[in-house]
Amino acid sequence: MAEWIISPLSKAHERAGFSCGKAPLDLFLLAHVSQYEKRRLARTYVATEAGSTIVAGYYTLATGSLDASVLPQPLRKKLPNYPIPTIHLGRLAVDTNCRGRRLGETLLLHALKLAHESSERIGIFGVDVWAIDDEAAAFYRKYGFIALEDDPQHLLLSLKTFNRALDA
Ligand SMILES: CC(C)(COP(=O)(O)OP(=O)(O)OC[C@H]1O[C@@H](n2cnc3c(N)ncnc32)[C@H](O)[C@@H]1OP(=O)(O)O)[C@@H](O)C(=O)NCCC(=O)NCCS
Repeated sequence: MAEWIISPLSKAHERAGFSCGKAPLDLFLLAHVSQYEKRRLARTYVATEAGSTIVAGYYTLATGSLDASVLPQPLRKKLPNYPIPTIHLGRLAVDTNCRGRRLGETLLLHALKLAHESSERIGIFGVDVWAIDDEAAAFYRKYGFIALEDDPQHLLLSLKTFNRALDA
């Protein structure tokens, strides 16, 4: 089984050949990520195999917020009617050559742990994501994300749910 190394994107990482089969996610890594990093619009974490600098997968995080009205009723209970703070998982993609080796899961859990650690210092209710299509939404639902009421492809995992899974 591959040993994945996940680290913040740096100049040493080779991005040029990355292809996950979803053009906007490839284009982001090839053409736009440097501007996002420079302006701190997102932070990008990449996975490489031990001894390699070739990007096998990546994800991005930024802060986000949700209108409380998009939360399903059970989650909305006891929450104020103000914007709810989140960490926004902007993108997550695995190169087609590395599929099915649990790299998607490894990247997602890395992102959730980072959100969990950040929530020790700043208010974060959960991690939200806009899935690129139905297939991607199915991937997130597998890990406990639930669809929000504004769009079935807008999903959320509350940190309370994630913490419960960590403790189990
Ligand atoms: C979705 C994606 C990240 C999954 O990565 P991966 O490394 O192939 O997946 P993993 O090997 O980590 O799979 C972990 C589990 O998720 C399941 N899974 C993978 N892709 C899935 C999908 N699209 N729908 C439902 N389940 C999925 C696997 O079958 C596996 O399940 P198991 O625990 O029962 O064995 C990858 O297919 C990808 O990059 N797709 C294109 C980009 C994309 O859609 N990104 C997500 C949204 S922005």
